[in-house]
Amino acid sequence: MITQQTIQQILARIDIIDIVGSFVRLKKRGSNYLGLCPFHNEKTPSFTVSPSKEIYKCFGCGRSGNTIGFLMEHEKYSYVEALKWLAAKYNIEIEETSSNPELRLQQQLADSLFIINSFAQQYFSDAIFRYDEGQDIAAAYLKERGFRDEIIKKFQLGYCLDKRDAFATAALAAQYNAEYLQKAGLVVLRDGQLMDNYRGRIIFPVHNQTGKIIGFGARTIKKNDKSPKYINTPENEIYIKSRILYGLYFARRAVDYNDECLLVEGYTDVISMHQAGIENVVASGGTSLTQEQLRLIRKYTSNLTIIYDGDAAGVKAALRGLDMAVEEGLSVRLVLIPNGEDPDSFIQKSGVAAFRKFVLENKKDFILFQLDISAKEAGLDSKKKADVVNQVAETIAKINKAEDFTLQQDYIRKCAERLQIDEQGLHNLVNQFIKEKVQKEELRKTGAAESRDKNITEKQVDFSDEAFNVMYQDELQERALVRVLLNYGSKEFDGSQTVADYIFLENLDEETFKNEKIHELLLLYKQKYESEKKLTTADFTYLPDNEIVRLVINTTNHPYELSARWNDEDRARTINSKIWEYNYEDFKRQVFQAENAAEVIYSRTVDDNYRSEVEDVMIYLKLKKIKRLIVLNEEDLKNMNADQETIKHYQEVHIHLKALQKELTLRKRTVIYPF
Ligand code: GTP
Ligand code: MN
Repeated sequence: MITQQTIQQILARIDIIDIVGSFVRLKKRGSNYLGLCPFHNEKTPSFTVSPSKEIYKCFGCGRSGNTIGFLMEHEKYSYVEALKWLAAKYNIEIEETSSNPELRLQQQLADSLFIINSFAQQYFSDAIFRYDEGQDIAAAYLKERGFRDEIIKKFQLGYCLDKRDAFATAALAAQYNAEYLQKAGLVVLRDGQLMDNYRGRIIFPVHNQTGKIIGFGARTIKKNDKSPKYINTPENEIYIKSRILYGLYFARRAVDYNDECLLVEGYTDVISMHQAGIENVVASGGTSLTQEQLRLIRKYTSNLTIIYDGDAAGVKAALRGLDMAVEEGLSVRLVLIPNGEDPDSFIQKSGVAAFRKFVLENKKDFILFQLDISAKEAGLDSKKKADVVNQVAETIAKINKAEDFTLQQDYIRKCAERLQIDEQGLHNLVNQFIKEKVQKEELRKTGAAESRDKNITEKQVDFSDEAFNVMYQDELQERALVRVLLNYGSKEFDGSQTVADYIFLENLDEETFKNEKIHELLLLYKQKYESEKKLTTADFTYLPDNEIVRLVINTTNHPYELSARWNDEDRARTINSKIWEYNYEDFKRQVFQAENAAEVIYSRTVDDNYRSEVEDVMIYLKLKKIKRLIVLNEEDLKNMNADQETIKHYQEVHIHLKALQKELTLRKRTVIYPF
């Protein structure tokens, strides 16, 4: 671990304009700097950097963060890597505390494996050029497949001589440890002797996100070889299969820039596509995607395009686990290549222009694709058709992020059209699935899940739509809490206490929060507040957890100052990015009063109304808790074989809760975010 002292030293030196400016050309605009966003494709600049707040924010794509966040996002560094990069830049010596001995040992082992892999890569790459066998067999093979020298160098391809232990001998001579060589999968023990594991194979190094080699894929090139086509590094401290996407290191910038990640099956597909100028591509290794891989992709883009073999098995493999992708917030498209071709063979045969055209013309939305396949299967069978409708509704219900709301509506419309069913009906069905999900989550959080889960699915507890809306829109309200706390926390609330005091008066338990990060942030605020009292947003923009930093910035930051250059496009964009922060009645009223809508944004940021805002947020959270209690109470009422006395008692609880709910609802100023 880097010591706190070093971190402070680094933070003190950071100049955001200097750092961001070395990757993005910035121009001064008022007190801020403006440039073309490096994270999405744009012609008019909407990427702003504020030196006073030490943050950046793009009003086009919404990305934001501090200097360290920028390095993490742009260079795909981890937090520690970003700190190390800055330390090197500013010539600050890094002090590290000794972590626990077990961790250190693991770290040492990982470091050793990286060093060995790097040595092996060099050795295998050299072998192609240094030995006749490398030239005659490996270079000839790669050439025949159409791989040019520069792409072979870029991907650091190599060759392992077809000798018993040529590599093992070289590695031992270079003082590498036999045990680690085995752990790295480069050699195996056979009859008490070390033997090369990849004899006679082409070597594909596998890189991690920072470009270090974590392992290898080794392809046989012998005709009539009975052994597996590929041998891979066994799982070890650094090669963890479920987290690997081949080619990600070379693809990350292009994925970011195109806001799309292409996924293919094979190593050679990735390499061929790169050679043809398509760089936003990674490979899965032919297995179905894991959640970790999906999350890795999600870090760079929310658009995943899968390009797989179109035979039946390929389709099945591609579809497997993709509901999970939807849940991770990815929108997934599918391209199936027919006739046993893969992207590599397609490009080598027909050229990249034909390939691009094919992909463009055959890109199918995953949800609609799945729908078409099963609808075809179901035919006219009405029972099967009902199953299809249910299945698609369940998938659509998984798109549950507030920001994907329009996407969800879009799917409902399209699917209803395709199935020729009533749109409102499908809508209701989707809502039903969402409710069930929300319900289960809520109950799980109360700890009663195990005992109640079964009853719930058998006997639907009916939430009213109002209750459902309150729950479904949790995050917006949770964010509102963060906003009022960070913006007004130290302000006076009612003479005797501050806004923060007022908020922390309520015991906001973990169950109240759908988003754990918000809860974490509140705890952090509370802790800091107890010792420091006067806190500002700036106290929270340099936390190691980038997700929390983003939360802070996105919930509290105002768009750049209104300037003469404020044009319609900017305005629309800003309103678009801020719209969820308004309640409808306020918004309507203010739009009517203001000369132009942009002013609404600014009138909102003037904090004259903050007391009632704070009150509103707290009322909402209390309502939410009451709602939960009511549901639990209703369950008790339905499930108990209780005597009259107990039932009466439960009914009293119910009446009391309802009265509380009514009272609070009346005190709430407006309807919350209608949709
Ligand atoms: P070429 O035939 O050289 O074009 O390779 P390819 O990458 O097209 O291979 P293929 O389409 O047969 O397989 C796709 C991917 O699945 C490969 O790149 C490997 O990652 C993986 N794979 C294929 N065969 C094997 C195998 O026998 N063992 C293991 N571990 N992985 C394999
Ligand atoms: Mn192939």
